[in-house]
Amino acid sequence: MPRQLFVTTALPYANAGFHIGHMMEYIQADIWVRHQRMAGNVVHFVCADDAHGAPIMIAAEKAEKTPQQFVADIAAGRKQYLDGFHIGFDNWHSTDGVENHELAQAIYRDLRSAGLIKTKTIEQFFDPQKQMFLPDRFIKGECPKCAAKEQYGDNCEVCGAVYAPTDLKDPYSALSGVTPVLRNSEHYFFQLSDPRCLAFLEQWTQEEGHLQTEVYNKIKEWLTPNEDGVRDLGDWDISRDAPYFGIEIPDAPGKYFYVWLDAPIGYLASLKNYLGKIGVDYDAFMADPATEQYHFIGKDIITFHTLFWPAMLHFSGRKTPNAIFVHGFLTVNAEKMSKSRGTGLNPLKYLELGMNPEWLRYYIAAKLNARNEDIDFNPEDFMQRVNSDLVGKFINIASRAAGFLSKRFGGQLGAISPDGAGLLDIVRAKNEELQQCYETREYGRALREIMLLADRVNEYVDQNKPWELAKKEGMEARLHDVCSVCIESFRLLALYLKPVLPTLAAQVEAFLNIPAMDWSAAAQPLGLGHAIGDYQHLMQRVDIKQLEALFEAPAQSAAPTVGAGASSLPQATHSGVATEHEQVGPKLPGGEAFAPTISIDDFAKIDLRIAKIVQCAKVEGSTKLLQLTLDVGEGVDDQGIAITRNVFSGIASSYQPEQLIGQLTVLVANLAPRKMKFGISQGMVLAASAANEKAQPGIYILNPGPGAQPGMRVR
Ligand code: 2FM
Ligand code: ZN
Repeated sequence: MPRQLFVTTALPYANAGFHIGHMMEYIQADIWVRHQRMAGNVVHFVCADDAHGAPIMIAAEKAEKTPQQFVADIAAGRKQYLDGFHIGFDNWHSTDGVENHELAQAIYRDLRSAGLIKTKTIEQFFDPQKQMFLPDRFIKGECPKCAAKEQYGDNCEVCGAVYAPTDLKDPYSALSGVTPVLRNSEHYFFQLSDPRCLAFLEQWTQEEGHLQTEVYNKIKEWLTPNEDGVRDLGDWDISRDAPYFGIEIPDAPGKYFYVWLDAPIGYLASLKNYLGKIGVDYDAFMADPATEQYHFIGKDIITFHTLFWPAMLHFSGRKTPNAIFVHGFLTVNAEKMSKSRGTGLNPLKYLELGMNPEWLRYYIAAKLNARNEDIDFNPEDFMQRVNSDLVGKFINIASRAAGFLSKRFGGQLGAISPDGAGLLDIVRAKNEELQQCYETREYGRALREIMLLADRVNEYVDQNKPWELAKKEGMEARLHDVCSVCIESFRLLALYLKPVLPTLAAQVEAFLNIPAMDWSAAAQPLGLGHAIGDYQHLMQRVDIKQLEALFEAPAQSAAPTVGAGASSLPQATHSGVATEHEQVGPKLPGGEAFAPTISIDDFAKIDLRIAKIVQCAKVEGSTKLLQLTLDVGEGVDDQGIAITRNVFSGIASSYQPEQLIGQLTVLVANLAPRKMKFGISQGMVLAASAANEKAQPGIYILNPGPGAQPGMRVR
C-alpha cells in the first residue's frame, strides 16, 4: 500500500526574500519528498508565507502599503527561488488566507471547550504616540547591567544580559522615540501548565519516532521540574492587542492571536487550500488514520513545534504530527552571517551568476544527516565535491563510454560478460540501503556510498581501458561489453542521485531513451540492443571565478548580501525589528532576476529567425498592439505569392508603424500560433523592456547587424 504523506517546511516570514538557510531546509525536505514519490508514496508537500505579526505590520506601514499588499509583494518573489532550486512544493499559501482564519478560530474554540484557555491581566509598555502596546524588540534603552545604550527590550547585544523591557534605563519606543508608559491589558493564555498538557507532552515527546534524540533531550528540560518542583513550561500568552496584523480572537474584541499561534496552523491551511484545488476532502484526509504528517524545521523553533503545536492539535481533537525533523543552521565559511560584511551566500545571486542549482543541492545533501548539527558552506570544499566527485567520478562514467557506443555500435547496448555483470550486481545491490538512507535523512551517507560505487565503476573503466580496446583488432565485442556496463552503471547511479539531482536525472533519462525512473527502475536494466541517444555533456565544473563573484562584497557596504545563521537570521524574528534586517539582494538587471539556468538543449528548442517587417499597421481596438507582416525567408507559394507571417506585437507604445516597415528583427518562429481577439499571431518578435515598464517606459525591438537575411537562424 502506498503511504499517504503530508509534508511541510517551516513557514517563512513574509517580510523578505529567502536566504540560504531557507533554501537548505527546502532542499532537505524536497529530497525526502522526491524519495517518497520514487517509492510510490502519495505526498502533499506544502508551505506558505507566515504573514502576521507586529514586525510585518510595521514594515508594511514603513513601505506605505497595507500589510496584505506588503505580504503579497513578498510572495510574488518566491517563485524564482523555488523554481530556481527545483523545490517542488505542491502549494504555496499564506497564513492570512481564509482557511487559516477559520482553522485558527476553530482550534481556539476547541481548546476553550477543553477548558485550556484562561485570561490574565498583564502590564506592558505602551507607546502613547503610536497608540499600541510594544513588543519587546520595539523597546530600546540602556542596558541595566553594562549601561550600553540602544539595547533591545529583551537582551543586551553588548554584554549578553537577558532582562525584561521594564528593566531598561531610559526606555524609548523604537517606533516613535517617545517614552513608553506601562499599561494593563487582558491577555489570553493556553494553559500548557495544566496537568493534562504535561502528561500528554511527556508521553508524546518520548514516543518512538516523534523526535530526534537530541531534540528530545533539549525539550525535556521544559517538562522536568527543578528542585523546587517548578517547570519551565508555563502558560503560553497567545493574544496581542490591536492594532495587530493577525487573526481576531473569537468573542474577544480588539484581541488577536499572537502570530506563533496561527503560524503552524498555516500548515493545515495550506494543505486544505491545496486539497480544495485537487478536489480532495480535507476533513476526510486528516481523519484518515493512514495520513502521516511531517514537519521539517530549524533548531531555533523547536519549542513551538514539539510542545505548543502537538498540544494545540491534541487538545483540539486533531491529529498530531508523526515526526518533527529538526536540522541545524548553515554557516558560510564557518561564520554566522553578518549583515554588514556581506559574507553571505545569496541564493538569487547564485542563480543569477548562472551557477547550477544542482551543485548546491548536491553539496547541501552531502553535508546533511539526520541530526540537527550545523553545516558549513565552504567554497573550496564545494568546488572540490562538485568538480571531483559529481563531475569527475559520476558524469565522467557516461562521457567515457557513450562516444564509443554511438560511433562504433549505433548507440546500441551489447552483451555483458560475467565480470561486468558482477560489478552491476554490486551497484544494484545498494538500492535498498540507499533508499533507507534517504528515508532516514542520512543524505551525506547516501552520497558517500554512491561515490564509492562510482569509484568502483571508474576502476573497472581504468582496468579495461576502452580507449585502448578501441584501437586493438578483434576487441570490438569487449569494447561493446565494457561500454555497455558503464552505461548501465551510470543509469543506476543517476537513479540513486535522482532525489538530489532531479534535473540531471531527467537529462540522463532523455539521453538513455528511458521513461522517468522510480526506485523500481533499479531492477529494470537496459536490455541488449537498447539504443541510447547521443551524449551531450551533462554538467559543467564549478569555475572559481563564479565563487569569487558569489562572495564578492557588494559595491556599497550599506547594501549587504545576506545568508543564514543561527542567531543572525536576516529576517525579523517575531519580536524582531523587520526593517533593520531586511534583505538587500544583488542588483537585479533590468529590474528582474535572471531566469533559472537552462541547458543548451533547452535553448535549441527555441527557433529564432531573422524576419523582415514588410508591413506594419495599427490594430483597431487596441492601444498596445501593432500588426506586423513578416518575411521569414519562406519564399513563395504555388501561386507565386510571398509567404509571410502575421504577428501581433505589444510595441505600439514605442513605435509608429511607418518606423518599422523595412526593418529586420528577430522572430521566435516555432512558437505555437496564438488565437487573439484580432486574429492569429504566428510567432513573436523579440523586444527589450524594463521589468517595471511604468517606472522605466520604453520597448526596444531587436535588430541584427548588417548582412543578416530573412530566414537566417539566430543561435
Ligand atoms: O521562524 C520562522 O521563520 C517562522 N516564520 C516559522 C514559522 S513555522 C510555522 F509554525 F509556521
Ligand atoms: Zn549590557
